[in-house]
Amino acid sequence: MMTFSRPTRRLVLSRRLAEARAITDAMWALLRPGAIIQRPIPERHRLIFYLGHLEAFDWNMMCRRGLSVRSFHPSFDRLFEFGIDPEPGCLPQDAPEDWPEEEEVRRYNARARAAIDGLLEEVPAPIVEASLEHRLMHMETLAYAFHNLPFAAKIPVAVPHSVPTRETRDALIDIPAGEAVLGKERDGTFGWDNEFARHSVHVAAFRISKFKVTNGAYLRFVQEGGAVPHFWMKRAGAWCYRGMFEAAPLCLNAPVYVTQALAAAFAAWSGKALPTEPQLSRASQGVVTGTGRSDVGLAGWEPVPVDAYPSADSDWGVSQLVGNGWEWTSTPFAPFPGFETLPFYPGYSVNFFDGRHFVLKGGSCRTAACLLRPSFRNWYRPDYPYVYAAFRLVEPAP
Ligand code: AVJ
Ligand code: FE
Repeated sequence: MMTFSRPTRRLVLSRRLAEARAITDAMWALLRPGAIIQRPIPERHRLIFYLGHLEAFDWNMMCRRGLSVRSFHPSFDRLFEFGIDPEPGCLPQDAPEDWPEEEEVRRYNARARAAIDGLLEEVPAPIVEASLEHRLMHMETLAYAFHNLPFAAKIPVAVPHSVPTRETRDALIDIPAGEAVLGKERDGTFGWDNEFARHSVHVAAFRISKFKVTNGAYLRFVQEGGAVPHFWMKRAGAWCYRGMFEAAPLCLNAPVYVTQALAAAFAAWSGKALPTEPQLSRASQGVVTGTGRSDVGLAGWEPVPVDAYPSADSDWGVSQLVGNGWEWTSTPFAPFPGFETLPFYPGYSVNFFDGRHFVLKGGSCRTAACLLRPSFRNWYRPDYPYVYAAFRLVEPAP
């Protein structure tokens, strides 16, 4: 691994922050006037919250708490500090008038960015890295939120849609009994609290799908009464994929995006199960995330066929374990042995260790490259339908 001198490391961080802010600004530029006050996801805040949140989060963590700097706008610091994840049936009820004007938020943001830039040298590196990764995670949460706006609310990016092709036949791959390595080594590089500590778990022999479950396979389940994915819509009597900027014919060979509940129902219908986090981690052994792919690292906007990029297969020949859609596991989100909170963001994971969130692994086309490390863990409620989340199946070894 390369090691950098301290000044070089600081320079790298300030360049990464500038790049991440540019990505943020490009995301907001996709919205047509008026869209920012919409709430495309009923369980989340209106989009204008996120306009303030990204900068308020950085300012609160890096300067106000990290360096004890005096606030220039305490009420916005609080208003934009944390998002929401309500229990089912407890949706937020605020009205557009309850939020400040967009211009006022943009002025706050400009001041926060300027204050941060003036002090960045003094902010401990892990806090800068947490800010960066937080911002980039929200590029994905914003993407799937924007996905639920009407097409007319967005300025379209030209996105190639995968055309419906012949479906790749799934195959089950045998994984012998052995150790799954989970978590992140404490080697000084940044990781979130829930990634530590590194440890091994014994996994019994099992078989796992080579490919993510496709729209084509899921369509047969729908034809037999299975629930329809949130990402599908009917047009002229045919199921279509509801894309970010337009509807497209359903690509039978692309992964189906579904909730964990629908994934589990499909698995039961197939006589199989969803993988556990250790099973998926063991199946992922040897995966190297290359570049030049449109299904990772914010390069693309929509899923690609499940057999694209075979060079990224794991040691066992399992395909696309990173990219082209997060993958649901059956494992409740919980701390690893040796878990410790990060002092500068104690609630990052702890607030969700409640048995009602489940682990997802891998990443989607809208996941930033730095979040694709094998130890990164994502989590959502089992019936949250908005995420770019796919799945594959397992069964016990014969
Ligand atoms: C890790 C993606 C589930 O969006 O709720 C963002 C990340 N935490 N701001 C989320 C997060 C605080 C989190 N996920
Ligand atoms: Fe956040």
